[in-house]
Order: sequence, then C-alpha cells, then structure tokens
Amino acid sequence: MDDTQILAPDADGLHRAVALLRGGQLVAFPTETVYGLGGDARSDLAVARIYDAKGRPRFNPLIAHVSDMAMARQLAVFDDRAEALAARFWPGPLTLVLPQHPNAGLSPYVTAELPTVAIRLPAHPVARALISAFGGPLAAPSANPSGGVSPTRADHVMAGLSGRIAAVIDGGPCTVGVESTILGLFAATELLRPGGVTVEEIEALTGPLAIGGDATRPNAPGQLASHYAPNAAVRLEALDPRADELRIGFGAGACDLNLSPQGELIEAAANLFHLLRSADALAQGRTIAIAPIPDTGLGRAINDRLRRAAAPR
Ligand code: TXA
Ligand code: MG
Repeated sequence: MDDTQILAPDADGLHRAVALLRGGQLVAFPTETVYGLGGDARSDLAVARIYDAKGRPRFNPLIAHVSDMAMARQLAVFDDRAEALAARFWPGPLTLVLPQHPNAGLSPYVTAELPTVAIRLPAHPVARALISAFGGPLAAPSANPSGGVSPTRADHVMAGLSGRIAAVIDGGPCTVGVESTILGLFAATELLRPGGVTVEEIEALTGPLAIGGDATRPNAPGQLASHYAPNAAVRLEALDPRADELRIGFGAGACDLNLSPQGELIEAAANLFHLLRSADALAQGRTIAIAPIPDTGLGRAINDRLRRAAAPR
C-alpha cells in the first residue's frame, strides 16, 4: 500500500476519509477511548483487511460503531435493559453485546459468526461525524497491531500501522484513554471487559453485574492472557522498585514516569497507554515496574490492562 495519509479532523478530512471507506479502504479515527481502525462493517473485504492489517486472530469479533440510535436499532435487537443502558451511557465509552438483528446486513467477519453483535455509539465528535457522513456502521478495533499497546494519539497509530492502512484522522489525544466497557446482555448482564464507564456507575442502574469471559476460551481479545503488551517485561504492584528497573508511579513518590502525580484515576487512564509506550522507548532492556493502582472506578480498567501487559507472552 502507498503511504498512510494523515487527515485533518475537518470537513475536507472527513470527506476524504469517507471516500476511502466507500472504496473498502481502512481509516483510523479518534474516539474518546482509543483510536479505532475503521472499515465498512457491511463489507467482507474491508473487514478482512482489518484483521490482516492488525494481524488479529479471526475468532475475535469486532465492535460495530454507530452514530445514532436509529443505526444501532438496524443492527441489534434492543430489549428494555438495552434501551435503559443506551439512554444512560450513550454516546460514551460503553459497548453492548446484543442479539443481532435478522436484517443487520453486517459482514459475518464482524461477529465471527456469533448470533450476537457488539455495538458502540462513541461520544467523540469526529467519530460520530465520520460514521454519520459514511452513512453506515464502521467495524473498528483499536488501531494497533494485535496484542500490542492501544493507541491514544495519531502518532501511536502511525508507529504501528503506517503503510498498512489508507489514512488516519488526527483528532489529538484521546480523553478517556482506556477502551470501552463491554457488557454482554445475556440471561444475566455480564461484564466482559472493564473500561471507560465504571462498574459502579453501571451497577447503580442495573444492580450487580455477573463476571463474564474466560481467558482460556476467548471470545474477546481483551480476554486473551497477554495483550496490551509493550516490548519490555512488566512487573506490577511494585512498592519496592529495584535500581535496575524503569519505575512508573501513581501519586507521590520517586519514579521515572508518573501516571498521575495527584493520584487521580481519570488522569492515570488518559495517560496509561502513552506512558507504557514512553516507558518502552526508555527501558533499554530494563523491566518496567508499575506502582499499585487502586482497584476501584477506572482503576479496574487500568489494572485489567496492566495485568494483560504483564502476562506471560
Ligand atoms: O473503546 C473501544 O471499545 C475501542 C474503540 C476503537 O471503540 N475498540 C476496541 O475494539 O477496543 P477491540 O476490537 O480492541 O475490542 C473489542 C472487544 C473484543 O474484546 C471483542 O472480542 C469483543 O469486543 N466483542 C466483539 N463482539 C463480541 C461479541 N459478539 N461477543 C462478545 N465479545 C465481543
Ligand atoms: Mg484492542
């Protein structure tokens, strides 16, 4: 493929991006969580290109991104529980796994032939404008090579996928910084991946969530044991960093890089993937030692990503 174009998040950039998407090409775009690698969710060719560009295992289904509820209702069947969650948290960093609508028209590669489909209505204005101008759902995994650190800036996308995708829309840094929370609306409401909407916020609406997913039989790459991994080895809960380690801190205390000097989880989530990339560039063979992060609120999503980053490869 030719060089990857960097597009501005304006009318001209969106116009070019839509033309590329209509031609079955891939365009990375900003969302409030991480950058997505977008392709036409109704095109087998475009979706196959997503798996190819990422080197992603084909049994891992993709999220269909929509710009409004009307588009969402064409893809999935919404029961009262789904309607209530959508009304409360959309647009925003929540993905709902729902029964696929019989006339959804999605490529079977999006769902990996499951009867369900994962849907997300992002809050980022550029993401919504792009999907709306395209006029249909975009399949979009995180815009990074499979297994690596997710991208929260356009240059992260370029570092991993330059030359493998048609374009990236540069919308600046992502504000949330961790991927969407995924809920499976099955017999029980199951937490499939902690993310940008906290479990506490969701449970205030739904009552206690069941814990779904199984790392040994993954139906979500976020459930694979090793994921989000930098090149360097990672050690967690490091209260006693060693002299030969690169130290990532949280809150007060000596360190090389700090997720949030004030100890704020929102700031730490927004900084997480950029700091992991920076640490990787600085590590030079050293292990990255990461301070403990409280396991509440966004800390659950942060710790989930860190455990996978530290998992045996
Ligand atoms: O914040 C996000 O969700 C980002 C941005 C780009 O929107 N996207 C993202 O996509 O994280 P990805 O592909 O990295 O993760 C999507 C997750 C995977 O773990 C996948 O297996 C799961 O969604 N998933 C998709 N369809 C599913 C289904 N039908 N049942 C269960 N899990 C599903
Ligand atoms: Mg990902």
